[in-house]
Amino acid sequence: MGATAFLYLLLSLWVQGATAADLGFTRSDFPREFVFGAGTSAYQYEGAVAEDGRSPSSWDTFTHAGKMADKSTGDVAADGYHKYMEDVKLMFETGLEAYRFSISWSRLIPNGRGAVNPKGLEYYNNLIDELVNHGIQVHITLHHVDLPQILEDQYGGWLSPKIVEDFTAYADVCFREFGNRVVSWTTIDEINIGVIGSYDSALFPPGRCSDPFGVTKCTTGDSSIEPYIAAKNALMAHASVFSLYREKYQHKQKGIVGINIYSYWSYPLTNATVDLEATQRCKDFLYGWILGPLVFGDYPQVMKKNVGSRLPPFTKVQSELIKGSLDFIGINHYFSVYVNDRPLDTGVRDYKADMSVNSRGSRTDPPAGQGPPTDAPSDPKGLQLALEYLKETYGNLPIYVQENGMGSADDSLDDTGRIGYLSSYMGSTLKAMRNGANVRGYFAWAFMDLFELLSGYQSRYGLYRVNFTDERRPREARLSARWYSGFLKHNGTTALASRAQVNQALNLVS
Ligand SMILES: *[C@@H]1O[C@H](CO)[C@@H](O)[C@H](O)[C@H]1NC(C)=O
Ligand SMILES: *[C@@H]1O[C@H](CO)[C@@H](O)[C@H](O)[C@H]1NC(C)=O
Ligand SMILES: *[C@@H]1O[C@H](CO)[C@@H](O)[C@H](O)[C@H]1NC(C)=O
Repeated sequence: MGATAFLYLLLSLWVQGATAADLGFTRSDFPREFVFGAGTSAYQYEGAVAEDGRSPSSWDTFTHAGKMADKSTGDVAADGYHKYMEDVKLMFETGLEAYRFSISWSRLIPNGRGAVNPKGLEYYNNLIDELVNHGIQVHITLHHVDLPQILEDQYGGWLSPKIVEDFTAYADVCFREFGNRVVSWTTIDEINIGVIGSYDSALFPPGRCSDPFGVTKCTTGDSSIEPYIAAKNALMAHASVFSLYREKYQHKQKGIVGINIYSYWSYPLTNATVDLEATQRCKDFLYGWILGPLVFGDYPQVMKKNVGSRLPPFTKVQSELIKGSLDFIGINHYFSVYVNDRPLDTGVRDYKADMSVNSRGSRTDPPAGQGPPTDAPSDPKGLQLALEYLKETYGNLPIYVQENGMGSADDSLDDTGRIGYLSSYMGSTLKAMRNGANVRGYFAWAFMDLFELLSGYQSRYGLYRVNFTDERRPREARLSARWYSGFLKHNGTTALASRAQVNQALNLVS
């Protein structure tokens, strides 16, 4: 009996209760070229913020000003800068097919523009080589909400059109140095909610806002107009990077370039016409703000109407440059909301007020305040509906689910709740694909516990647990890591087996 057959015999004896049959699908129900991965981002993972020539990013400034609820920083985070070799080995053992991470712009180009930091170059080259040597696809995000502070200081970062030239030059370095090994480039993570966090609610650096829209009192900013300006500049920067890749690199490197949007599904709270319209408006503001220009060359009508002169228009030349500038759509997806109409305020408005809806995490919740609800229950069906909506509305472009995962204050290794969450959302991805959605990959957030942008170290998302009180930052597989591994390496045969059983199975094959 071969080792594999022996393994399956053992597994069939071991696995009690839920198995692949209960999950309703296996790895081989997805196309072979579909990729399953997991992700991290630079500031959340690397640490080593003042090492080897890295200059501060806007997140360093923000966390060191004590802006996080738990007063935490990413100074050490998961210490990935020192532990990436060990981590790639863990990814390989898990059976990860792809790894999504971001490059720290201020580590690679500490002045924001100009000279490349050789140590930064070396770190990313080593990481990429290690991934490639282990057969793991490389999916890189260029900007994951962590702008070099120096560009923030010099011209206000994304608020200035000057960002277009600097972002393009940074991308050029990345394409030139790393592009021969990179499958997929995402220019900007969560472009829509990113600018809201940065310039409307002040939840993210640079923490700008104006009364009454911020989560804190801001000394500078204008919540009514800055998010719209930043989004336009970010779209222009994205388009510039896309055309650079297309003209200079794509024919030899064969990679793809897309953008990432924060997504949630919205259901109408009631079937009243005003609520159905409010639900569509919510989608137009969330998706259409970004995908309207990228796919059709302009913002949705309802945004132009409600935002008016605060929405910076595109010239004809800009519109033509932006239109069609993406090979794929990346979405981050965690929950759904219920939406009802809220009459348009006549006074000063921000994005949420312009959207003119109330949203809540469940039918019975009170309306959430600024931003989406924070404790919405799991709703896998919402991901299926979002994927099908994107297909119908924006021309069936390839889509990657780039983040999906469950946060929890519970540090336990036996995270069966997370397995339930991930498997149900993977299942709804498959349903959307069976209905024709062009989905090409799924990435769990996160490969390991990280510094979380909204909650510091108070919320855990990792397949692997990280002990942040131990200076060595040891990693330990949660049950979800072992389950994901079983799904990927053994076609789901080990799904939902007990941790001890899966543990044994993994030891057998490694
Ligand atoms: C709205 O109508 C749909 C389709 O008829 C129905 O399935 C749904 O339950 C209704 N929703 C509410 C809140 O009444
Ligand atoms: C984390 O590390 C600290 C310090 O080494 C240790 O005291 C603690 O028990 C560890 N926690 C867990 C859950 O392993
Ligand atoms: C995976 O499992 C499914 C369902 O049991 C089966 O149909 C399929 O052939 C298996 N694929 C591989 C590669 O073993």
